[in-house]
Amino acid sequence: MKYSPKFPVQWLQFKVMVLSILLTGISAGRTDIPRLSPTRGVIIEHPDFLSSATVSDDLQTFYYPQTLDHFNYQPQSYATFQQRYVMNFKYWGEANNNAPILAYLGAEGPLDGDLTVIGFLNDNAVRFNALLVYIEHRYYGKSIPFGSREEAFKNASTLGYFNSAQAIADYAEIIMHIKNKLRAFYSPVIVVGGSYGGMLASWLRLKYPHVALGALASSAPILYFDKITPRGAYFSVVTKDFREASETCYQTIRNSWPVIDRIASQPNGLSTLSMIFKTCKPLKSSSELKNELETMYAVVAQYNRPPWYPVTVVCGGIDGANEKQNILDKIFAGVVAYKGNRSCYINPPTNESETDVGWRWQTCSEMVIPIGIGKRTMFQPEPFNLNNFIEECKSLYGVPPRPHWVTSYYGGHDIKLILHRFGSNIIFSNGLRDPYSRGGVLENISESILAVHTVNGSHCLDVLPEMESDPEWLVKQRETEVKIIKGWMAQYYADLKAIQIKP
Ligand SMILES: *[C@@H]1O[C@H](CO)[C@@H](O)[C@H](O)[C@H]1NC(C)=O
Ligand SMILES: *[C@@H]1O[C@H](CO)[C@@H](O)[C@H](O)[C@H]1NC(C)=O
Ligand SMILES: *[C@@H]1O[C@H](CO)[C@@H](O)[C@H](O)[C@H]1NC(C)=O
Ligand SMILES: *[C@@H]1O[C@H](CO)[C@@H](O)[C@H](O)[C@H]1NC(C)=O
Ligand SMILES: *[C@@H]1O[C@H](CO)[C@@H](O)[C@H](O)[C@H]1NC(C)=O
Repeated sequence: MKYSPKFPVQWLQFKVMVLSILLTGISAGRTDIPRLSPTRGVIIEHPDFLSSATVSDDLQTFYYPQTLDHFNYQPQSYATFQQRYVMNFKYWGEANNNAPILAYLGAEGPLDGDLTVIGFLNDNAVRFNALLVYIEHRYYGKSIPFGSREEAFKNASTLGYFNSAQAIADYAEIIMHIKNKLRAFYSPVIVVGGSYGGMLASWLRLKYPHVALGALASSAPILYFDKITPRGAYFSVVTKDFREASETCYQTIRNSWPVIDRIASQPNGLSTLSMIFKTCKPLKSSSELKNELETMYAVVAQYNRPPWYPVTVVCGGIDGANEKQNILDKIFAGVVAYKGNRSCYINPPTNESETDVGWRWQTCSEMVIPIGIGKRTMFQPEPFNLNNFIEECKSLYGVPPRPHWVTSYYGGHDIKLILHRFGSNIIFSNGLRDPYSRGGVLENISESILAVHTVNGSHCLDVLPEMESDPEWLVKQRETEVKIIKGWMAQYYADLKAIQIKP
């Protein structure tokens, strides 16, 4: 069972290394594919790469008494918890003009990081005269049921309310609450999300069309469930990204694994490896090292964004090493090029982030994203084993995952056939260098269920803050998205007018 990526769309949080990438995970096998967070890796690893906007002074925080269980009527379901949301009124054209609302749907992490990392709302607020709303996902940040994190995460009895359907219902309730409170009954709402949050945005539009007029679902791999997407797709893209950046770099990485295995099998081999890679603790197995390297390659591919292009940075280190250096020294030079000068590199001390803990439950219940490593990659093959995964989850939580629930509840199979005449107003945006893009919607499905992708884009790139240095293709992608959303709104206002004129 290899990876089941986390999706944190948890953008950059600089403090703790929130984005501890990958599917950290469930012990057996690694589950550390990069989660779905929009920015993670890059930023964290590299202080030079900080680019995000500062938190606006115009944000106001609110709490909504949220219902614990939206879907049944037993007395305990009526319990409530305080759910955090944040609003910015500065650019809003007011309720009496039916001015729009842009609502960011939080994903698998505290909301705080997203406020700076999700640029799309702020960057477009003026253009739309929009009210900006950001809502935190239940069980993260300050939106914790049962009074404390400790209680909420105690066991499956309390974690059971932690799922996507409840989260989407939370968002629907809060959006309705805001519209009522502001008497903005006819303000169109566009929901925006990235990664796992992008999935939530697209599903909210499909399930609650009366709540959101449309959705921007950035890098949302809604088709990486069951066997809709080949399990090896993720690591094939990682491989392709490296190969495109540099053939020699790709070859060096590909040839490094057997060398690691060979050294590890020699007497004192693990301490030799620990020395070569300046590990923070002596290695206990070669897979510890291999997992960390795999994870690093996956992260840099997922977040391979301009202007830094971390894949190129890693390959610059590998290719730039002295010809005569041996292969593992070259690999290590790639690690250093990416991580910078540090006192040690592999297995640094870290604390588990909220995302690590929360996403582990989410992947062990419904978000079973079966990612394995196939042949013909630059990695050693490591197939995803569903049975092992199920056993692993059972031993952690006492309950097994439901790997087919997402496609039963939201669909995914034959999506083009199914959504061609159902649903509307969803943009699925992707960057094709993002390994998760292979589980995304990459084809236009109907006139308003649209795929907008860029060949050289990375994970959630379009919803990150605009930068001076943005390449033309990224600027164009965002312009296309805005134009599409403006079209939805124009149609909506025309429909509204037509209805209101009638007696
Ligand atoms: C969870 O813990 C509570 C209280 O400690 C206990 O009553 C309940 O049976 C436990 N549930 C599971 C699934 O273990
Ligand atoms: C790392 O340290 C070396 C030697 O101390 C120095 O030459 C190099 O510029 C440093 N690299 C970075 C990225 O700071
Ligand atoms: C982990 O958390 C502890 C307690 O909060 C803190 O003292 C320690 O510095 C943290 N370690 C890291 C690596 O962040
Ligand atoms: C889908 O349609 C939109 C709007 O016409 C267009 O910008 C986009 O390039 C199309 N996507 C694909 C994958 O053809
Ligand atoms: C993508 O990047 C490659 C290599 O950097 C470049 O050759 C190609 O023209 C780019 N493609 C587009 C569509 O921007």
